[in-house]
Amino acid sequence: MIFYKTSNENIFNSDNLELLRSLEDDSINLIYCDILYNTGKQFDDYNDDLGSPREAIEWYRPRIAEMKRVLAKDGSIFIHCNWRMDSYMRILMDEIFGCECFRNRIYRQHSGLRAFYVNFDSQVDIVLYYVKDPKNFVFNETHTEQPSIVPLFENGVLAGRDDVRKLNGEAIDIAAKGKHWLVYPEQFQKMAEAGEVRIIDGLPYRFSNVVPVGNIWNEPEMWDSYSRTNTADAYDTPKPEGVLERIISTCSEKGDVVADFFLGGGTTAVVAKKLGRKFIGCDISTKACEVTVRKLENQG
Ligand SMILES: C[S@@+](CC[C@H](N)C(=O)[O-])C[C@H]1O[C@@H](n2cnc3c(N)ncnc32)[C@H](O)[C@@H]1O
Repeated sequence: MIFYKTSNENIFNSDNLELLRSLEDDSINLIYCDILYNTGKQFDDYNDDLGSPREAIEWYRPRIAEMKRVLAKDGSIFIHCNWRMDSYMRILMDEIFGCECFRNRIYRQHSGLRAFYVNFDSQVDIVLYYVKDPKNFVFNETHTEQPSIVPLFENGVLAGRDDVRKLNGEAIDIAAKGKHWLVYPEQFQKMAEAGEVRIIDGLPYRFSNVVPVGNIWNEPEMWDSYSRTNTADAYDTPKPEGVLERIISTCSEKGDVVADFFLGGGTTAVVAKKLGRKFIGCDISTKACEVTVRKLENQG
């Protein structure tokens, strides 16, 4: 079932459940899977039909459980789906990983408006982001550059986020102002040391040239058209490299192991290699594995 092997890449042509069962516990740092959306469509190389949502969830259940088992203790997992399956997958992921391991739901804009008149056009798909341990995971802050002033607090007192912190000897009693902290003490400390924090009316703001990336990913390089225009041998449903670049660089380190168990045309493999990560990929379709290997070899 191994299809292609180098010192950094292992591509398997098999059912992902079979492969997952053969992998060691805690062995993968980051998992990204662009799963079957259950559209009922027959694509060139695979059938995107798992039956009713309930049947689909039972198909996913053992796979997600195995993904949790193989994920490293400080690992992260991203499940890319759309409106058809996202709520069902959220509940399944909560059951298997635990609600406390949910980090975010990312809205990825896949296209501009199309000319549909019977509905509000659906322009986003959803990436569910979980970690194995909410107290221990890799997250390298990712940002865009532009001058910004961002409050480091939000309205309402919240236990555990109400500590009194200091800036240049001055106490910031956030709860006394009816607010709570948006950043951890260590993050606040780093910002303070960089001279980025200012107090206005007793409340802390970050003045900075960086804007952290939020959970709406709508830049042109995130759109599907971006990947389709420049991929001659496009697989039916490629994701743009921009999406993978953001996920891999934020939630893993150089030399880490990244895996994609719904490999398709190998976007994750290509980006993992570009960013100096090791890679495990799996697809039940031989064509998907062939397309991926061709791209990896062309990368040099
Ligand atoms: C949505 S596509 C992934 C596209 C990919 N993200 C890309 O950028 O090209 C889903 C892939 O999952 C594969 N697949 C479906 N069932 C599978 C299974 N049981 N085991 C492994 N791969 C499977 C399909 O063959 C298909 O290539």
